[in-house]
Amino acid sequence: MDLSPEYARALDADDELARFRDEFVVADPELIYMDGNSLGRLPKRTVARLREVVEQEWGQRLIRSWGEGWFTAPQRIGGKIAQLIGARPEEVLVSDSTSVNFYKLVHAALRANPNRRVIVTDDLNFPSDLYLLQGIAQALNCELRIVHSKDGLTVSPEELAQAVDANTALLTLSHVEFKSGQLHDMRAVTELAHRAGAWMLWDLSHSAGAVPMALNDCNVELAVGCTYKYLNGGPGAPAFLYVRADLQEKLRSPIWGWFGQSNQFEMEPKYRPAPSLTRFLAGTPTMLSLAAVEPGVELLLEAGMKRLRAKSVRQTEYLIALWEALLQPLGVTLNSPRDPAQRGSHVSLGHPEGLRIDRALIEEMHVIPDFRFPDNIRFGLAPIYTTYVEIYEAMMRMRHVIEERLYEKYPTERPAVT
Ligand SMILES: Cc1ncc(COP(=O)(O)O)c(C=O)c1O
Repeated sequence: MDLSPEYARALDADDELARFRDEFVVADPELIYMDGNSLGRLPKRTVARLREVVEQEWGQRLIRSWGEGWFTAPQRIGGKIAQLIGARPEEVLVSDSTSVNFYKLVHAALRANPNRRVIVTDDLNFPSDLYLLQGIAQALNCELRIVHSKDGLTVSPEELAQAVDANTALLTLSHVEFKSGQLHDMRAVTELAHRAGAWMLWDLSHSAGAVPMALNDCNVELAVGCTYKYLNGGPGAPAFLYVRADLQEKLRSPIWGWFGQSNQFEMEPKYRPAPSLTRFLAGTPTMLSLAAVEPGVELLLEAGMKRLRAKSVRQTEYLIALWEALLQPLGVTLNSPRDPAQRGSHVSLGHPEGLRIDRALIEEMHVIPDFRFPDNIRFGLAPIYTTYVEIYEAMMRMRHVIEERLYEKYPTERPAVT
């Protein structure tokens, strides 16, 4: 392994996607931002788009803008996200938060399969998903079966298969697990659900925009995902949901709002769900946040998911090689799968002092990863703008923090946001 900074620079010089970094606002070129898996960077095109939405569409056109592109934006932007995830345009809608969309789809799936009373997930899944599942299981009187990870990092298809049976309505997992970055085999896991007659719901929050996938090809029933991570849609940007075309008319959203109503502006008192995926809308779209999603998605489409994934794998491999040479000897563990085929685009490194090391990196090393309990420092690599030099520098500075024990001056209490 070449540990020189020249090698990192050569990798950047050889990067066919390098020009995309210029599409993003890089306010502080010295800052090494490794948290694009929590909040993606701001695309320059989004600044221009938001100015247009605020000044012209809202400021000048006022209410007329609803008929000039706002009303159909959830479907239009969903159609673009569909291209990133291997779905048909009419199968993806942008609305609400990931949590709310997850609730809508889990609820709909259980209602559509009344003879099956079990939901299966794993304990690596994102807490919001686990909480929502607990709430729905209680409300609908179902059993929630949670597969426990033996190593705290991964769960295998075999372990999942053991938990899914003829009473299972739904298997739901994060495609890339939020802590370890484990990437599940979408085809194999969806098939094991189908073999038992269960439906599959994927949470794509940590994979959409980072890992190519083929929802249609894998015959996936349902999916949700965030747009503020690798899709660079901005803080609190509305999420997306996917429902396979043939199921849309069979499913009911548990939230019967006027944006999900057939012929909405007839304003009739009785609820009649829209004939398409639109029935999963509820209230008025948050237009400013929604408008901010589109430019980020377009950038990913221009870069191409295959090329993005190829760079992401090269970058996570590079980070892991640096970890092995520089940090493993200092007691830092690799808390992500070693095999790139089983890994998304973030790498977790573990250390008993992880929280304080993370703090030192942010406060005095100008590096922003994030921390996930109990000991994970997550390095999110967004191939559309992360450079190899940044990865090199992040690992060198982490070594410096540990060797010089710079973390010791920070308190051990956890701040409200990590
Ligand atoms: C995997 C996963 N699912 C769900 C969520 C929750 O998303 P939201 O806050 O938009 O509901 C997150 C947030 O980070 C997440 O990482």
